[in-house]
Amino acid sequence: MSLMFSFRDKVFRLKPVIDSHVSFIKELASSLKVDFWSPDSAELVTIDIDVDIHVPASHSDMVFIMLDQSGINYEVLIDDLQAAVDGQLDSSTHTRSHDYTKYNNWNTIQDWVISITSANPTLISRTTIGNTYEGRPMHLLKIGKSSGSTKPAIFMDCGIHAREWISHAFCQWFIKEAVSTYGSDPKITSLLDQMDVFVLPVFNVDGYVYSWTNNRMWRKTRSKKSGSSCVGADPNRNFDAGWCTLGASNSPCSDTYCGASVESEIEVKNVANFIRQNRSIIKAYLTIHSYSQLLLFPYSYKYGLAADHSELLSVAEAASQVLGSLYGTKYTSGPGATTIYPASGGSDDWAYDLGVKYAYTFELRDTGYYGFLLPESQIKPTCEETMLAVKYIAAYVQKNL
Ligand code: ARG
Ligand code: ZN
Repeated sequence: MSLMFSFRDKVFRLKPVIDSHVSFIKELASSLKVDFWSPDSAELVTIDIDVDIHVPASHSDMVFIMLDQSGINYEVLIDDLQAAVDGQLDSSTHTRSHDYTKYNNWNTIQDWVISITSANPTLISRTTIGNTYEGRPMHLLKIGKSSGSTKPAIFMDCGIHAREWISHAFCQWFIKEAVSTYGSDPKITSLLDQMDVFVLPVFNVDGYVYSWTNNRMWRKTRSKKSGSSCVGADPNRNFDAGWCTLGASNSPCSDTYCGASVESEIEVKNVANFIRQNRSIIKAYLTIHSYSQLLLFPYSYKYGLAADHSELLSVAEAASQVLGSLYGTKYTSGPGATTIYPASGGSDDWAYDLGVKYAYTFELRDTGYYGFLLPESQIKPTCEETMLAVKYIAAYVQKNL
């Protein structure tokens, strides 16, 4: 990977507690090149939330002065971003071969998709739900014991957002665990006997490739539109769920740009088409993001509670508890709008309104210390604990078919 940040780019955590702090942050964002880590864009900043921003080295002295003048409380989360980027890949012995405890690039993942499918013909079948904007295939794996008839299913995707690399790692881990423990783990065996799990290991393939080759902090798709030099839309603002009304931006340059229209992003359209076509069998929709350690469910596009709110909450709380039983990792669960921020056009809300009752968004480790740059040494524990929560939800869904 090439050097992407100049010496000592920094990540700051700002703690706005009054309205003038919020306006200060929005002004800072519009006058300087700041990259929002959390929340996802300046539009989403409110009082009493932590705001994590990446500031280029060239501006960091000025930002220190401005912060001190504004009176806002802040801390430096990452003092040297390039060192953190280098630190997330745990040695220089980076080979081309696939490794579940490393971050794998798209070519490696694609080769792995093909080989794990052919190595497990009775448990995995592969289809392509379409191509991305740049023409890459969107591979979808169906994990399950083949039976004569159509089985109820769970749909899970990873990598809606390009820079959330631990998400991509989790889908690969899940597939490995499912096929290697089928026959020995009673929960997995019963799940795969009775249900199928559709796994889309990389949703936003073009963005993921770009996050390896050009900009580690890339989030959106890579679609181009006439009239703007900015590239891409936020796939998780592009679904037909209160589209572009809340917590999303109309500006093509924003990291939360909702796109030119509903499902304007081909990757979103491909996923939505697949789920629509299979809506009668899909009982749960799980989507994996990072970071913040949250287990979210509808709604995010409005404050009103979902019809199934209390059931969704109790399943989320129990799943968070089993997740934490392994390493003590603490998760918060609740509806997106009040737990993280209101944001429309998300895949979870869309799936829920389509009739997929168990619609959950995971925000994996951590809570901001490394943020998107979670070191490879944390892939295994993160995937192990997340596996417990996913298995819990799957077993619950299975029991309630
Ligand atoms: N961090 C995620 C995002 O901004 C949270 C998604 C929660 N769901 C939602 N429909 N906004 O995309
Ligand atoms: Zn995300």
